[in-house]
Amino acid sequence: DWTDANIIDEQVALIREQVGDNRVICGLSGGVDSAVAAALVQKAVGDQLTCVFVDHGLLRAGEAEQVETDFVAATGVSLKIVDARLQFLDALAGVTDPEQKRKIIGREFIRSFEQAERELIASTESGPPFSFLVQGTLYPDVVESGGGTGTANIKSHHNVGGLPGDLQFSLVEPLRTLFKDEVRRVGLELGLPEEIVWRQPFPGPGLGIRIVGAVDASRLEILRRADAIARFELSAAGLDRDIWQCPVVLLADVRSVGVQGDGRTYGHPIVLRPVSSEDAMTADWTRVPYEVLEKISTRITNEVREVNRVVLDVTSKPPGTIEWE
Ligand code: XMP
Repeated sequence: DWTDANIIDEQVALIREQVGDNRVICGLSGGVDSAVAAALVQKAVGDQLTCVFVDHGLLRAGEAEQVETDFVAATGVSLKIVDARLQFLDALAGVTDPEQKRKIIGREFIRSFEQAERELIASTESGPPFSFLVQGTLYPDVVESGGGTGTANIKSHHNVGGLPGDLQFSLVEPLRTLFKDEVRRVGLELGLPEEIVWRQPFPGPGLGIRIVGAVDASRLEILRRADAIARFELSAAGLDRDIWQCPVVLLADVRSVGVQGDGRTYGHPIVLRPVSSEDAMTADWTRVPYEVLEKISTRITNEVREVNRVVLDVTSKPPGTIEWE
């Protein structure tokens, strides 16, 4: 498609002009926007870019590997991985309040990211400075926030409150003129994997806000396995493009009686929350075919021992939100 190729050539030229010989940092989240932004900058300035991926342990099955392996293979980008899984688990231990969870996850994320940046800066003292930061800002975000740009303190772009910081960067925002569908086409044109380009929205705090109750390693594992089954079956049924996103939620503090084989069980419910939406401001529950729901329910209760009930959320937004926390 010549239009997408034009967008890429134009952005590559602009990025080269803006960045010059300086070095650039980009945080990867696993989502499409940061991946496409990073791939564009990589195409423009190659080795001057270093990506940072904070593995907070709250991603779904296979997602960290997608960034660490598939994205690197597709782009050749230099990637610094921060394994912060234990740090996040420790910080979240015993916390049940959703806003408290968000605050903690935001704070720990910034801590890890800044630490990685300091290490990068320290390790290349003799080279050109890291003075640019890539952000996957899209056109609708620009319009919504009044259109300002320029330099930013590391804080402001993570969209979470946190510690005061002192790292100053100029922003590189190669997606500022694009809508989501254009970002996806550019991503495909740049050779990014379909799973990244077509990923549905996923909240920054990840599975941390899909466990109703305190977060711990075994609960995360239960949710990850149930979620992987639901995602697999929805994809296999060809429903990915009809569904805006489908949170899978573990009601970790709820137990109900069940029966399996010749024994009574006392397990947890899993909630399926498939929604259709244009912009996440309002949403309707998606009428997923009964056969698909049945398959998901049967597989989860058979394959995830701790779960003995699968329930469907049939609430629109409003009054429900998309996430349960
Ligand atoms: P709600 O639950 O408010 O979600 O209807 C609307 C959209 O926002 C996502 N979401 C979040 N994204 N950090 C994020 O980056 C968050 O704390 C957060 N909470 C909700 C949600 O997945 C949906 O797409």
